[in-house]
Amino acid sequence: MTAPTSRPTARSADLFARASAVTPGGVNSPVRAFGAVGGTPRFIASAQGAWLTDVDGNEYVDLVGSWGPMLLGHAHPEVIEAVQAAVARGTSYGTPTEPEVLLAEEIVARTPVERVRFTSSGTEATMSAIRLARGATGRDVVVKFAGCYHGHVDALLASAGSGLATFAVPGTPGVPQSATDLTMVLPYNDRAAVERVFAEHGDRIACVITEATPGNMGVVNPEPGFNAFLAATCAAHGALFVSDEVMTGFRATKRGGWGLDGAVEGWVPDLMTFGKVMGGGLPAAAFGGRADLMGLLSPEGPVYQAGTLSGNPVATTAGLTTLRLATDEVYAHVDAVATTISEAASAALGEAGVPHLVQRAGTMFSIFLLEQGSTLTAVRDFDEAGRQHLPAYAAFFHAMLDAGVHLPPSAYEVWFCSAAHDERAVQHVLAALPAAARAAAATYGSPA
Ligand SMILES: Cc1ncc(COP(=O)(O)O)c(C=O)c1O
Repeated sequence: MTAPTSRPTARSADLFARASAVTPGGVNSPVRAFGAVGGTPRFIASAQGAWLTDVDGNEYVDLVGSWGPMLLGHAHPEVIEAVQAAVARGTSYGTPTEPEVLLAEEIVARTPVERVRFTSSGTEATMSAIRLARGATGRDVVVKFAGCYHGHVDALLASAGSGLATFAVPGTPGVPQSATDLTMVLPYNDRAAVERVFAEHGDRIACVITEATPGNMGVVNPEPGFNAFLAATCAAHGALFVSDEVMTGFRATKRGGWGLDGAVEGWVPDLMTFGKVMGGGLPAAAFGGRADLMGLLSPEGPVYQAGTLSGNPVATTAGLTTLRLATDEVYAHVDAVATTISEAASAALGEAGVPHLVQRAGTMFSIFLLEQGSTLTAVRDFDEAGRQHLPAYAAFFHAMLDAGVHLPPSAYEVWFCSAAHDERAVQHVLAALPAAARAAAATYGSPA
C-alpha cells in the first residue's frame, strides 16, 4: 500500500530503504514501520514543543509523543538543561547515585507503592514484577487479559483463541510453548471469566497482571469497580494484583491510572510497573509495591533482579525533572487539549458520516472507526476493539499526515497530547480534521 502525499518525502524514503537493508523492517520497534497504514515512515530530525520536523523539512503537530513519554512536549528547556548537566558529569558509573533516590522518592510520593526498583524498559519492569510475584507466592501461573500489552516478555506475548479461560498459545514464533504454558489469557472486563479461573486454578495463580486502563488496544476503560474486583479476588486467593502503569503512569492523571479509580475507591495494587513519562524520553522504567514484597528482591532477599544501566543517572535526571515539572496545571492543560481535539475529531467524523467511538482515560484518548451499521456503544474488550474499519483509519491517518499532523500509525493506539500543545498546534490539528474525516468516509464500501 502506498499513500499519495503532496509533501516531499525523498529523504525519508531513502533512509527507509537504507534502514531496511540493515535493520529488519527498517525500524527498531515494529509499529514505526507504518505497516498498518502503508506509506513511508517519516524519519524525524528534530522536535520542539508540540512539533516534529522530518529529514525532508516537513513539520507535523505530534500526537504520538514518543508513545507516551513526552508529557511536557519535546525538548523542554529545563529537561534539556538538567540532562546536559548530568551528561557533563558522566553518563554512567555503575554505582548508586542521588538522582535515583530522588526519583524513587517522587514516585513513592505520587503512587501507592512503598519502594521501587529501576529498570531500563517497561518490558524489564513487567518481567521483573512477574518474577517477584512468583517468588513471593511460590506459585507459577500468571493471568493476563487479551489486548493488554506488557512488553515483549515471553510469558506475556500470548493470546488465547477463544473468549473462554484457556491456557495461552505463544503470540509469536520464538516463544516456546513452555514459556506460555503458565499464562492464562482472559477477555478484558469479564468478571465471570476471572471467577472461573480462580475457582479452577486459584491455588496455582501467582498474579493477575493488567494495564490500569488498557491503552494498547485503543483506550478501553475498566468497567466501574473492575480493578477493585481484581484486587479483591487476588487478595482472597493469596495471589498478587499487578497493575501495569507503564503507559498510564504519571500520564492519565498525576497519579496515573490508579488516580482514576484506586485512589478514589481505596484499593492498592500489590505491585505496579512504570515507564514512559518517568523516564522523560530516556530509557528508564520501574516496578514497585508493598515494602515487604519489594524486600524479597536481591540483595535484601532471594529473588534475583539486576541491570547494568538500571537507574542510569542521565535517565533518572530526565525523569525526575519531568515529574517535578508535571504539575496540576500541566495535567489540566493536557486534559483540556485532549478534550478539544477528541471532540473536534468526533464532530468531523460525525459530519462525514463515519461511525466511531471516542474513549477517554484521563488525558489519554483514542478513536475507534467502526464498521458501517455498527451497534457498538462502547469498546469493552479486545474482540470489540477489533471491530474497526481499518481502511478508514489508514485514509484518515494519511490525510492528517499530509496536512501536517502526525497521528499514531495504527488504529489501536492512544493519541498523546502534551503541555506544549498550544493554541497554534491545536488549531492546526482542528483545521486538518474535516478533510481527513471525508477521506475516511470515502473508504466505506471498499474491502476491509
Ligand atoms: C502497558 C505497557 N506495559 C509495558 C510496555 C513495555 O514497555 P517498553 O516498550 O519500554 O519495553 C508498554 C509499552 O508500550 C506498555 O504500554
